[in-house]
Amino acid sequence: MNNNKLSLAEKDVQHQLHPYTDARVHEEVGPLIIERGEGIYVYDDQGKPYIEAMSGLWSAALGFSNERLIKAAESQLRKLPFYHLFGHKAHAPSIELADKLIELAPVPMSKVFFTNSGSEANDTVVKMIWYRNNALGKPAKKKFISRINGYHGITIVSASLTGLPANQRGFDVPLPGFYHVGNPHHYRHALAGESQEQFADRLSAELENLILREGPETIAAFYGEPLMGAGGVIVPPRTYWDKIQAVCRKYDVLVVADEVICGFGRTGNMFGSETFGIRPDVMVLSKQLSSSYQPISAILINDELYQGIADQSHALGTLGHGFTAGGHPVAAAVALENIKIIEEDNLVPHAAAMGKILQDGLNQFADHPLVGEVRGQGLIAAVELVADRASKAPFEVTGKLGRYLAGRAQEHGMITRNMGDAIAFCPPLISSESEIRLILERFARSLEDTQRWFNASR
Ligand SMILES: Cc1ncc(COP(=O)(O)O)c(C=O)c1O
Repeated sequence: MNNNKLSLAEKDVQHQLHPYTDARVHEEVGPLIIERGEGIYVYDDQGKPYIEAMSGLWSAALGFSNERLIKAAESQLRKLPFYHLFGHKAHAPSIELADKLIELAPVPMSKVFFTNSGSEANDTVVKMIWYRNNALGKPAKKKFISRINGYHGITIVSASLTGLPANQRGFDVPLPGFYHVGNPHHYRHALAGESQEQFADRLSAELENLILREGPETIAAFYGEPLMGAGGVIVPPRTYWDKIQAVCRKYDVLVVADEVICGFGRTGNMFGSETFGIRPDVMVLSKQLSSSYQPISAILINDELYQGIADQSHALGTLGHGFTAGGHPVAAAVALENIKIIEEDNLVPHAAAMGKILQDGLNQFADHPLVGEVRGQGLIAAVELVADRASKAPFEVTGKLGRYLAGRAQEHGMITRNMGDAIAFCPPLISSESEIRLILERFARSLEDTQRWFNASR
């Protein structure tokens, strides 16, 4: 059928199935078509600008028009548009990027393995740890523990690590052998009068009890984002990571830091592991690694893990794992340039400074009748809306107000994201002070609109 007469929006509804979208609603409302980007703004096909207060998907650290990244991609495309890393082959961009990532890692790391997305990277980590534990003669040590509300992706294994119902309902996951412990959200899950430290004690005891119940000889690794992103921007309680790591070390359980959102300055340090005092055995990187101008992810493993994997690959004759586009030269060249810019432009301390303005600014709304909690670290934050501040009671229909507020923000020229009734902010690292203040202003207007709508609906 000739579709040339249809508009882009009509073609979209006719032929695209969208991720994270109610397909039936999409048939009715159609897409918001984003046509171009400039700085921290994106423009729709009607020419309307929006501040991208989520950096797309927590990822466009350098905004949407960085010329140096475009040039890095172009010159690599001209030189070598594709090559792979299978069977002893290599190319300069992946070699240089691996070298740079090992240099940046906050703990001694030994090797980098490249993949294309956060989900692929997390599936790969699980396979690598299984592979290594087989090599060590510990075939029972295969179970993984992550957290309720944690987000690690949507492939079958990474969705099993993820602890969000939306990613599991209807999909026959989690797989057996994947366990979830408590969400470290003090505001929602601490007992009455429980301090942050006591809450952290209780959560680490829960982890220890699970390890003992299953048998430490069966638990391979604990998996967590330093600060949870998609699960609601959850900042862990004080001492949480110290206590969790102590339990892991006691039972020979590896610690995997999923830095897919936190990595490259988001929390005010180069890595979330630094912000929260994590000494991971494995780090998973993506998103701000290339500002998402190209799809790329990377796994950093320490030497102990590497030695087991290397022995196993030698015994079996190959490491039978790898993706055609893993470590793609164009993506690696863009990532290298992206890191260079983050370093040259001091964007990590800049993110810390802008983060303070963002957090202070959002905290001005802490007493608003609809606001239950303002939380965040560096340039990532969330404001949780509640029906009743005193009891912290959520709204009867979860997400209705959050969705409304995000819709109003879009009207006011700002893209944000509601996770239920929590509104997330994750602006590009390049945001200036005046741009952060504009984000706060547009949020204020959207919150006022939401208050009016809420009052009218009661
Ligand atoms: C912490 C974390 N891990 C993994 C992923 C999955 O990454 P991808 O969407 O590239 O598969 C995400 C995506 O948001 C993430 O936030």
